[in-house]
This record gives sequence, C-alpha cells and structure tokens, in this order.
Amino acid sequence: RIAYVNGRFQRHDLAAVHIEDRGFQFADAIYEVWAVRKGELLDAEGHFDRLDRSLGELRIAHPVTRAALTIVIRELIRRNRIGDGLVYLQISRGRARRDHGFPPPGTRPTLVLTTKRLDLDAVAGRAAQGVSVISVPDQRWARCDIKTVNLLPNTLAKQAARDAGAYEAWQVDADGFVTEGTSSNAWILTADGALVTRPADHAILHGITRATLIRVATSAGYRLEERPFTIAEALEAREAFLTSATNFVMPVTRIDGRPVANGEPGSVSAELRQAYLAAV
Ligand code: PDD
Repeated sequence: RIAYVNGRFQRHDLAAVHIEDRGFQFADAIYEVWAVRKGELLDAEGHFDRLDRSLGELRIAHPVTRAALTIVIRELIRRNRIGDGLVYLQISRGRARRDHGFPPPGTRPTLVLTTKRLDLDAVAGRAAQGVSVISVPDQRWARCDIKTVNLLPNTLAKQAARDAGAYEAWQVDADGFVTEGTSSNAWILTADGALVTRPADHAILHGITRATLIRVATSAGYRLEERPFTIAEALEAREAFLTSATNFVMPVTRIDGRPVANGEPGSVSAELRQAYLAAV
C-alpha cells in the first residue's frame, strides 16, 4: 500500500508527518473524502470545491493546484489498485514550533493522501437491511460547516453508537433538533411525502452527497423542506435515511431502539439511492 505525503509516494507503513505538525498539535487541519467507484472519483468537483472552501475558512494556503492534485489522486488510486474505495486527504497548516498563533508566513502546509478499499456489495447489503442510529447531544463547536480534523466529539459519539450496537449517532442541538450524524447528514421523509433535511448552516457539514441528492430528488419531483427536525418527528416519519460519500443513501430503520415506521427500509430511500448512484 502506498500513501502520498508532501510530494512523495511512500510505503503506507512508513509514511509519517513531523511531531511538530500543526495537525497533530492543534487539529489545525482540514480533510476531504471522495468515494471511488470502478477507479473513478464520484462527485469529484463538489469535493474539490468544499476542500477549497475549508482551506479558505481556516486561511491555510492551498499547497497544490486542483489539476495537480487530481493527477496525484489518480496516480494513488492506480498504485493502490483501488476499484471501489475511498480517498482521504488531510492538509494541515504545516510544521512549526508549538505556538497557538499561526506559524510564520511561508510555512509549508502538510498534505497527506491515503486510500482505502470499500466493498460496495457490502454497503448495498447494509442498505437493503437498514441501519440503527442512536441520538446523542451535539457537543461540537460552532463551525461544523468546515471539514476540519477536529473530530473528537464525532469519534466519541460514533463509539457510543458502536457500544449500543448501532451504526451511527444523530447529534441533537440544545433546542432538541437533529444536526447530523458523526460522519453523515440526516434526512426524513414525512407522512405527507416531503423530504426534510437541516439547512446547510454552520451547525452541519455541507455534505456533497446531500447537495447532489437535493438536485436528484427535486428533479425527480420530490418536495424538499430544508428545516431542522426532532427525533420525535423522525420516529413518526414514513422513512429516515442518512447520506455521505461512504454510504450514499442509507436507510435508517431504528432510532434509539424504536422502529421508524414498520422498521423496514422504505421504497423512497431505495429509489433515491439508485437515482443518486445513477447520477454520479
Ligand atoms: N464524512 N457530516 C459529517 C459530520 C461528515 O463527516 C460527513 C462526511 C458528512 C457527509 O458529507 P459527504 O456527503 O460530503 O460525504 C456529513 C466523511 C465521509 C468522513 O468523515 O469519513
């Protein structure tokens, strides 16, 4: 296996960044995740656009042009013989002696790329079954729209889900509204047929899968309501599902141990999953 670190393809088991990297010291870094299907990046431009936005919000200089990055990612996919999988990118503010303020101008950002295989048949199997989620308080910061590696609340919430035998945790804000999952966006289909998902404000990551699915669903004639919803409303809903680059559209059939509708994956989730996969 091969990783890419600061301009070099390296053996994955030997690849490393410096102990004084700002990513390690301060979580002063952003990341991005692309799905790969048959060797091709899915929704590539959306993820590149969000990467640019994350860097801009944190005022980290872009270490490489989009064209060059695309070439490097393609080469990494090729070297690792990824058919179906994921590409992970992290960019930190670079290596500098520890000091909370930004390092001196000219400090070179750290760029890391890795890949992972993904068994899309297994993902499809999971989608056919549906997944369980638990609700947890949202303990994150006020800029969840920036895709930073500052993921401790997300990892704790995901582990709480695993400990409860669930697949994902839906985080709930102080007003009782679902923000999003630990690594996915949250949706419901109401009894009267509207798709509901939280607006892309500062409380959630602006999912690329979410944005594409909004286009796909509205052009398929679904009514979209971008508004917050509660766990109680989700339990009353006709269907619930989550979206992410790693799950596409994944039906949620249980929340906090209670069934959503009859506890079976719904037909709309399945239809939207197919429509999404056909569109990307
Ligand atoms: N997570 N919300 C959060 C908090 C996320 O971390 C993600 C993605 C999403 C969905 O975004 P997208 O549709 O662009 O993948 C929503 C990635 C997959 C991860 O952390 O592995």
